[in-house]
Amino acid sequence: MNLPKHIAIIMDGNGRWATARGHNRFWGHIRGAKSATDAIQTAVNLGIENLTLFTFSTENWKRPQLEINFLMRLLTRQLKRELKMLMDNNVRFSCMGDLSRLPNHAQAAVAETILATKNNTGMRLVFALNYSGRQDILNCTRTIASQVARGLLRPEDIDSQVFSQFLAGANQPEPDLIVRTSGEMRLSNFFLWQAAYSELYFCNKLWPEFRPEDLEAAVDSYLHRERRFGKTGDQVKHEISQSTPPVLEC
Ligand code: FPP
Repeated sequence: MNLPKHIAIIMDGNGRWATARGHNRFWGHIRGAKSATDAIQTAVNLGIENLTLFTFSTENWKRPQLEINFLMRLLTRQLKRELKMLMDNNVRFSCMGDLSRLPNHAQAAVAETILATKNNTGMRLVFALNYSGRQDILNCTRTIASQVARGLLRPEDIDSQVFSQFLAGANQPEPDLIVRTSGEMRLSNFFLWQAAYSELYFCNKLWPEFRPEDLEAAVDSYLHRERRFGKTGDQVKHEISQSTPPVLEC
């Protein structure tokens, strides 16, 4: 099966899930964290090699301070609680985004989890934290401009491949499949460059309601799509048939 090598998820709808049930938004985040754990386990079970979860965007700092504090505490608690699950599943954890603005406890939990899982060889799990696609592209442009100024790079050598080497998550394949919950149909500044040819899957469920079978349905939808990357459908089919050995008549 041609499984997506990299799935990225925009986990949306925690607040709406909680308020619809007469709870405060914090309950939605607690239940959302449980859905995140289930999604990690499901991705491992499906044999996905890379999973990125959009956990906290650069725009999320605009939320009420109490909610930000809670989300950061939840992140720390979740990383500590789920370390055994990550180890049991041979998951290697890392982050992308500017971690320096995170509170010390969250930075420490992130660093401990990265260290503890660094020799794991299974699925790579990335939390996007204080991340945005535009900021990533800006950082990348600054790095490239400084390399050009120092004579390490010539402007004419900057192509897509060179550019993407300076982006966050350059050691991962670009996301094949981006899933967003809650019925919203936008990228919200996630993986702007890398999403150029990602397949998008929108699920109406709110993130706390997202179950293993919903991720399986997203993967199933992906498996039924034809990815043409600018080519014609005939060309894509021809490539597939060329890779199939011909039947030999004796
Ligand atoms: C979106 O719901 C969710 C987030 C702001 C971040 C994701 C956080 C979690 C899933 C909980 C913690 C997870 C981990 C892995 C520690 P929202 O608050 O934007 O919902 P709304 O759109 O209904 O208001």
